[in-house]
Amino acid sequence: MAAWNIDERPAPKPCKENDTGVFEITCRDGRARLGKIHTQHGIVNTPCLLPVINPNIQTITPRDMWTDYGIEALITNSYVIWKHEHLKTKALADGVHALLDYPGAIMTDSGTFQSYIYGDVEVGVEEIISFQRNIRVDIGTMLDVFSRPDMDENEVNYAVEETYNRAKTSIETAKGMMLNGPIQGGIFPDLRRKSALLMGEEPFTIHPIGGIVPIMEQHMYDKLAEIILETKPNLPAHRPTHLFGCGHPMLFPMAIALGIDLFDSAAYALFARDDRLLCPWGTEKFDRMTEWPITVPCVQSITPKQVREMSKEKKTEILARFNLEVTLAELSRCRQAVRDGRIWDLAKRRSKQHPALKKAWDFIENQQNQWIISSQNISNQGGWIYEHGSEKSDPRIIKSLQNLHHKWGHNDPEKLIIFYGTPSPWRMKLNELILKIRAMNEKVPILITTPIGLIPYGIEDLHPFAHIEAEEEIWTNPPKKGFIEQQLSALNIKPKNHLIADINQENLLENICDYLGEEIQKTAHRDVLFREQLSDKMQLFFGVDPEESADLVAEVSFIVGGTGRARNVLDSKGNHLFSPSLTNGSLAATAQGGLWLSKQSSRPPSVVVDEHAEPFVRKGRNVFHGFVLSVDENLKQGDICLIYNQDGEYIAVGKAECEANEMTLFKKGIAVSVRDGLKNVEGHDSKT
Ligand code: GUN
Repeated sequence: MAAWNIDERPAPKPCKENDTGVFEITCRDGRARLGKIHTQHGIVNTPCLLPVINPNIQTITPRDMWTDYGIEALITNSYVIWKHEHLKTKALADGVHALLDYPGAIMTDSGTFQSYIYGDVEVGVEEIISFQRNIRVDIGTMLDVFSRPDMDENEVNYAVEETYNRAKTSIETAKGMMLNGPIQGGIFPDLRRKSALLMGEEPFTIHPIGGIVPIMEQHMYDKLAEIILETKPNLPAHRPTHLFGCGHPMLFPMAIALGIDLFDSAAYALFARDDRLLCPWGTEKFDRMTEWPITVPCVQSITPKQVREMSKEKKTEILARFNLEVTLAELSRCRQAVRDGRIWDLAKRRSKQHPALKKAWDFIENQQNQWIISSQNISNQGGWIYEHGSEKSDPRIIKSLQNLHHKWGHNDPEKLIIFYGTPSPWRMKLNELILKIRAMNEKVPILITTPIGLIPYGIEDLHPFAHIEAEEEIWTNPPKKGFIEQQLSALNIKPKNHLIADINQENLLENICDYLGEEIQKTAHRDVLFREQLSDKMQLFFGVDPEESADLVAEVSFIVGGTGRARNVLDSKGNHLFSPSLTNGSLAATAQGGLWLSKQSSRPPSVVVDEHAEPFVRKGRNVFHGFVLSVDENLKQGDICLIYNQDGEYIAVGKAECEANEMTLFKKGIAVSVRDGLKNVEGHDSKT
């Protein structure tokens, strides 16, 4: 393999004893997550693929996996090692890492898959666990019972129950070795749920979803999506989830968007042996190919024809490397998409490339799955391309609308104005006009038409509403009567009558004056608009009732930036309370703003931290998992939250990095990104 060797990669550092088996999340995008599994053979960054190594046939050697590809963990089969005397003897004597000549983390499977293929295995439940311990694997697997998609409900129920029956003994025998607790359940949603709930009770390290190989072989990707969606919400969220036997890059974006952390597969080698190439859009046949479908390093200076002329063994190795490189590149793309908050877009794009995947994607989007929706971070910025119906299918849009519809409220007015006719930024065209309207009428609600719904003018710069890219007619066509009725009802506002006004129309102001029955007056002060925006955003971001915030909103002053927009909100004493974001329209609170919020009866959810974290949090440092004592159960990922000490004193304001139940489940990583802490506020000096 010298031709591909780069500099020797050093061996990984073992993690701290206490951290072994801990899963830490470093980034989230909806249910997708980037994480780190801590092992005695280094950190495994997820989502990742564990390439399957057959100890008897190594198409790409484990050493090359480590050196050439930076593979941090691989999977091999303990049953295959156990069955072959020469492998077994060496593994028992020198350990599995020496057997495979691989320095990274090694996961082993247990023989379940062999029992599915050959009908039975000769090894016992405890025997195979002891063996995995004795050959010193990092992560072992119990002997679960495979559930096939053609099994009836009774047979699958047996697989689920028998797997669970074996769980306790397996864990006891593992004596602290990290262990996989596979989830079975065939294609029966309630049995998948049952399996997840049962297996989740036991202290497994990772939960692979098993019994899915035949489902993937038959391209039943909608079933695969359903299985993941039934399983994941019922598993302990702090444990990584693995898709057993899934290695086609085409499936990665969807699976990752649904919260899968690990994949394993021999597909890179098996497909290569069959002259098939893995691509992000599907599988390509190699035999008549003139050019490579993707240029990856291993084929950069060689043509398909030259590869065809090589020995079968050499050809298989190059094609396996091609498959592995494509697979790894797609995983990198997925991880970057998670960092960019765009995994849903990538998965949607990929789903259009294969009919079975499209069917799966439609199934996912049509579900309007609240577990997915609640986790979406809607403060992202950047353009968002409108597609007809996405207000009912895209979880980020659904969450934005749910937020608006649940949190924004208005007394039923006599009159109401709805503008349409142009995309954002609306302030360019409307601010002057709105100030004139406000000089005549302070209260009339003003809404703007967007393709996904009506929004109050106070949130005209809020993502995603302010960042929708849609065809011109979608903006210029007057909104239909049904749309208006449905939207007003969703916003829970019942005006006696309303005016629909085209922003581009001549005599716009005169028409509005006629509607309001008012004479044109002078222009209101721009702060009137800033106050309206503040009040609307305080509802959306902090859950503060407008009546409760009315006194504060009336007395605040604004620091205005160069573009004429409010940058900071100050109270009457000049304390900086809030900062509207100029890029995504969100509203951030300072520690003082949080203090004001903490005194209101309608306020953001709370997080309580222990005395060890308090001094750090007061200084504005993040709250780490392991220091959270309790959490409001209605707190959602991405929510602004108020942080309290054990005595119930407010100490800081931040943004939740995870859902309420995850705050106390995880033991490592950031639970709340703290925006600002109260520091040495009077009476607290001794604690800081
Ligand atoms: N490999 C592929 N599917 C499975 C499964 O269901 N269980 C186990 N243990 N290994 C697998």
